[in-house]
Amino acid sequence: MQHTKISELLKSADYNKEVTVKGWVRSRRGAKSVAFIALNDGSVIHTIQCVAEIAKFGEEVLKGVTTGACISVTGKLVQSQGQGQSVEIQAEKISILGNADETYPLQKKGHTLEFLRDIAHLRPRTNTFGAILRLRHHISFAIHQFFNDRGFFYLHTPVITGSDAEGAGEMFRVTTLDLNKLPQKEGKIDFEKDFFGKETNLTVSGQLEGELGAMGVGLVYTFGPTFRAENSNTPRHLAEFWMIEPEMAFHDLSDNMDVAEGMLKFVISYVLDHCKDDLAFLCEHYDKELLNRLNMVAKETFKRMTYTEAIEVLEKSGKKFEFPVKWGIDMQREHENFLVEHFNLPVIVTDYPRDIKAFYMKQNEDGKTVRGMDVLFPYVGEIIGGSQREENYDKLLKRMQEMHIPEKDMWWYLETRKFGTCPHSGFGLGLERLVLFITGMTNVRDVIPFPRTPKNAEF
Ligand code: 4AD
Ligand code: MG
Repeated sequence: MQHTKISELLKSADYNKEVTVKGWVRSRRGAKSVAFIALNDGSVIHTIQCVAEIAKFGEEVLKGVTTGACISVTGKLVQSQGQGQSVEIQAEKISILGNADETYPLQKKGHTLEFLRDIAHLRPRTNTFGAILRLRHHISFAIHQFFNDRGFFYLHTPVITGSDAEGAGEMFRVTTLDLNKLPQKEGKIDFEKDFFGKETNLTVSGQLEGELGAMGVGLVYTFGPTFRAENSNTPRHLAEFWMIEPEMAFHDLSDNMDVAEGMLKFVISYVLDHCKDDLAFLCEHYDKELLNRLNMVAKETFKRMTYTEAIEVLEKSGKKFEFPVKWGIDMQREHENFLVEHFNLPVIVTDYPRDIKAFYMKQNEDGKTVRGMDVLFPYVGEIIGGSQREENYDKLLKRMQEMHIPEKDMWWYLETRKFGTCPHSGFGLGLERLVLFITGMTNVRDVIPFPRTPKNAEF
């Protein structure tokens, strides 16, 4: 049977037309003679009101119209007398598609986000998660649009890899070996017997393969899941998160920053235009500053400074930080927050000490720093990490040796520097950090449908 989405009906002025809607009952209230049913189908944050005359249906049918039940309503679309809605449906026919009894956990409104995490299988039916899921979609779509409009090609990089892109070493293993009976060779596990004939892992980043693509087709981006097995139980870390990684031939660090800033502004402007209702809901219920913050980032020019300058600002501030400030430290959340608040702007920090950054970043002449960049945002901290890449074969190889990156596993990466190397740059945007910023949520577990964190892989 044909049915119409509630998002379309609420915009319609097709009065007296017969329509059918399908969705989940949010609430039912009413007097002796009529029942008012608030129905939501997830297409939009609002419900449509269905008015049912009890005499027409009898209590028997209406008994199934309980909070959480899934129903289909056919009736006339009429102008609403009630406040806060333009149209409503005068029900002629109601069918119960799926019952929900009084044990349905979302009986009333106002559950805590922690409680909703425990019922992640049902939370898409709440206003908050409906809004977040719709926003997450629009954000993803806007990202694809941004890159497509600028001639980037979407490159599908592998999820299973035999290399550790970040040299961090905290990866999830992929194996089909019997863990109770591991094959041995010369006192070690014999990975030649494993599925791929070698040790493999879930990828921590698509960057290295992204570089291979960029050095052939120029502009590429990846958009896929990435995995990190660090035991970080923080509101900003997931074990499985989605990363967007553009990689661009013939782009230096300054071009890289322009693309990063342009992309963030584009996506935020896009959702400000396309997701007004959901943003208004989140702004009202969770964070009154949300829209101001989004507008600020969409309009203001980001502050750009080197790591050395940033350290000077922190030192001159006279503020007592928990982690003392000194040139060479890996900046902590408190330092990043201070910078963003001090300038009251997103801040892009560049040229970090080489000892705290990955092997592939382009080395500066000073021998101490590399052409890395982090984009720091109000509210969420580091949202993007990136760099210009070291394109010089000898410098790259030397750095890999110093950092004990096995060159025999990375022969293919090195060959791009041997054959037709070129200056190139790229960065990684953590999707959940961006969704966090845009929705005003405070925990990444609340901006991905089914979060994966230490000791948690339910659903
Ligand atoms: O700074 P990261 O580790 O950089 C890279 O992976 C580079 N290979 C990117 C590149 O140059 N192509 O991660 C990039 C971003 C971070 O800035 C952060 O937004 C996000 O990914 N991120 C996480 N998000 C959620 N949970 C985690 N555990 C994250 N780790 C990083
Ligand atoms: Mg980083």
